[in-house]
Amino acid sequence: MTAVTLKPACAAQSDNHVLLAPNNQLHSSMTLLRNKETSHRDFVLAFQKVAAQLVAKALDFVPVEVETIVTPTGTSYTGCKQTAKVCGISILRAGASLEDAFRNAYNGPVSFGKLLIQRDEETALPKYLYSKFPSGMSQSIVFLLEPMLATGGSICKAVELVMERGVPESNIVIVNVMSSRFALSVVADRFPQLKIVTAAIDETLNSQKFIEPGLGDFGDRFYCTD
Ligand code: URA
Repeated sequence: MTAVTLKPACAAQSDNHVLLAPNNQLHSSMTLLRNKETSHRDFVLAFQKVAAQLVAKALDFVPVEVETIVTPTGTSYTGCKQTAKVCGISILRAGASLEDAFRNAYNGPVSFGKLLIQRDEETALPKYLYSKFPSGMSQSIVFLLEPMLATGGSICKAVELVMERGVPESNIVIVNVMSSRFALSVVADRFPQLKIVTAAIDETLNSQKFIEPGLGDFGDRFYCTD
C-alpha cells in the first residue's frame, strides 16, 4: 500500500518534531509531574491532563477527508472525518500509561500492540524481548507510545522493529511526555522522516541516564512501585 502523507501538527521544532505550545494548564500539570512531593494520585491526574493534550496534537498527523453532514437545525455543514487506520504500540512498561488517552481521543477504532525492550546490562544496548503487533499494522499510522526518551536507544530499536514489519518511517509518530535534547537528536539523525510529539525537552542526562531536571522514574511514579 502507498504511504499516507502526514501533515505536521504545528510548526514548533521542525515539521516533524512538535513541542506542545506552552500554556498555563500544561505548565502547571508538568510542574506537578516534576515535583518530587507530588502524591501518586496527583501524579496520575496531572499525567492524564498532559496526555490528553499530547495525544490530541499527535492525532493531527492523521489525514482527514471532507465530510458534509446535516445538523439538527436542518443545515448542511462541511466538516471532516479521520479516515486512516491507526494503531498505538506501547513500549512497556511506561508506554501503556498513554493508551487510555489515545483510545479516548481518536474518533474511530484503534488497535494496540505491545513491545518490550530492555537495556542489556552487559552491552548497555537495547535488547528486544517481546512484541505483539496488530494485524494490518503496515497499512496503519503507527503511534509509538513512550513517555520518556533519555538516550534514544530503546525508541530507535522500537522504530527498527516496526519498520521491519513493513511500516514506512514516515507513517510513525512517537508520542512522548519528556525527552532529552540528546535523544531527540539521536532519533532525528537516524530516522529523519519520523514524527515526534513531545510536551517537554530537557537539556541534561545524569550519570545514570536520567533526564534532568526530569521527573524521576516515570514507571515507578505512575504505577506506584518505588
Ligand atoms: N526513564 C524514566 O522514567 N526517567 C528518566 O529520566 C529517563 C528514562
